[in-house]
Amino acid sequence: LGSQAAPSAQPSYSDVDEVEYADMDWDDLGFSLKPAGYMYATKCTQGGAFEKGEICPYGDLRINPAAGVLNYGQGIYEGTKAQRREDGRVLLFRPDQNAMRMRIGAERMCMPSPSVDQFVDAVKQTAQANKPWVPPPGKGSLYIRPLLMGSGPILGLGAAPEYTFVVYASPVGNYFKEGSAPLNLYVEEEFHRAARGGGGGVKSITNYAPVLKPLIRAKTRGFSDVLYLDSVEKKYIEEVSSCNIFVAKGDVIFTPAAKGTILEGITRKSIIEIARLSNYKVEERSVAAEELFDADEVFCSGTAVGVASVGSITYKDRRIEYKIAANSICRELNRTLVGIQKGFIEDKLGWTVEI
Ligand code: COI
Repeated sequence: LGSQAAPSAQPSYSDVDEVEYADMDWDDLGFSLKPAGYMYATKCTQGGAFEKGEICPYGDLRINPAAGVLNYGQGIYEGTKAQRREDGRVLLFRPDQNAMRMRIGAERMCMPSPSVDQFVDAVKQTAQANKPWVPPPGKGSLYIRPLLMGSGPILGLGAAPEYTFVVYASPVGNYFKEGSAPLNLYVEEEFHRAARGGGGGVKSITNYAPVLKPLIRAKTRGFSDVLYLDSVEKKYIEEVSSCNIFVAKGDVIFTPAAKGTILEGITRKSIIEIARLSNYKVEERSVAAEELFDADEVFCSGTAVGVASVGSITYKDRRIEYKIAANSICRELNRTLVGIQKGFIEDKLGWTVEI
């Protein structure tokens, strides 16, 4: 794979009994790439099985200019996080769910994919190798990015002859520059994220570049992110560029149903399960943008974003503002989710994996 250029912030291993940290500014993480030292890589041919992968120093990949991923967008990725508990131990959150989602996405994109066990093992190995880059408690998490791509060359439109699966990682803090302040969303009416029958329901790399134009435009106007509408009736909310969306009214929580045009987020799924266990009624259904006007709360969910309150939504030139109460549903669900992820709350659901 031709990796090179290991990152500069190497850890010191002087005291193996203590928790070791890479030499970085843990107070200034944000969501920018600060590569952790090591990555995992393996390959396979179309129709074959993935070779036993290995951990190598983080660095560039050498890739054929005719690679399927570069020319025809044959690529999917995942996102998961490793969290540092107060006692220094490190937890992964539901990596098997990412593995299964990658398999479904790979099938849609005509790619071979690692088995669930191979995927989980790759994520564990990556987290283990990069333990010094898992931030101290309260400072952030290690974002782990499994990436599957058609790396073999192909000229006519078709599936690539060879595939590469890499897993790299970066310590991260808050996704949005607003930090944990409520988000201001803009409902996009000109551009759509996904069409029925397309690839919007899988984590294909091809879902992301097309949202850059409306996203950059909205950010220039001071919004945090863009909320997309369905492309048929232009009436129902779907998802945000970087995350899923939830709406709450009274003790009912509703979120757009996953019917192939929205991504079935693992945080979304976990929030639905936690909300139901907390006796909220959760509806997965079509949610009209008009319903935003009389909602009590709106919040977003995603691996990178976490669970984030929405403070305002601008739709058809009207700005809807939401009060963020100290006892909001968003905060309550987030407390439970983060509690499980960071080991403050007993994990009765078996979601965490210690590495
Ligand atoms: C994630 O939440 O893991 C994502 O892939 C979203 C991405 C825009 C950072």
